[in-house]
Amino acid sequence: MADTVILVGFMGAGKSSVGRLLARRLGRCFVETDDMIVAREGCSISTIFAAHGEEYFRAAEAEAVRLLALKRGDVIATGGGLPCREGMPEALRELGTVVWLAGDLARLYARAQRAGERPMLAGRTWADVEALYRAREPFYRRADLTVDTSALGPDQVAARVALLLAERARGAGAAHTAGA
Ligand code: S3P
Repeated sequence: MADTVILVGFMGAGKSSVGRLLARRLGRCFVETDDMIVAREGCSISTIFAAHGEEYFRAAEAEAVRLLALKRGDVIATGGGLPCREGMPEALRELGTVVWLAGDLARLYARAQRAGERPMLAGRTWADVEALYRAREPFYRRADLTVDTSALGPDQVAARVALLLAERARGAGAAHTAGA
């Protein structure tokens, strides 16, 4: 059975666009935790934050991770804060292979500001965003694989992730054979 692939990383890392391309490459389904939450709550992420606050949203993320364990083999794009809570790196690793889409913070920030509403950036200064990133980075570092997206387009990142996954699968196969 194919392993689930979970993309993590800060806002603006390209998890959605890369995830969609990667799923197509691998012939898998693509799922976004944000979409699961929006469908379940029946309103936008911004509305959820405004009406119920961040903690409510984080609980909804934890519930989404629990539901994702019911099916294997998908490519999953997570929200930027999802892996950054106690217990979440372990929960994600139980689901499959965790891939960090890393990159230069200034670039990520510029991209995140261009695309979509992001309540975690609203009213924050650059210093706030740097502090948020610094607090989150140790969680992202716990991924199984890392791709530096800085100089790459989404299709190149998807290709790189696919290559690393194939190498990892070959390594696991070789270790299995050697241990047999
Ligand atoms: C968040 C990132 C968003 C979304 C929500 C909170 C965060 O997803 O889950 O606005 O805390 O970083 P993206 O990483 O796709 O922007």
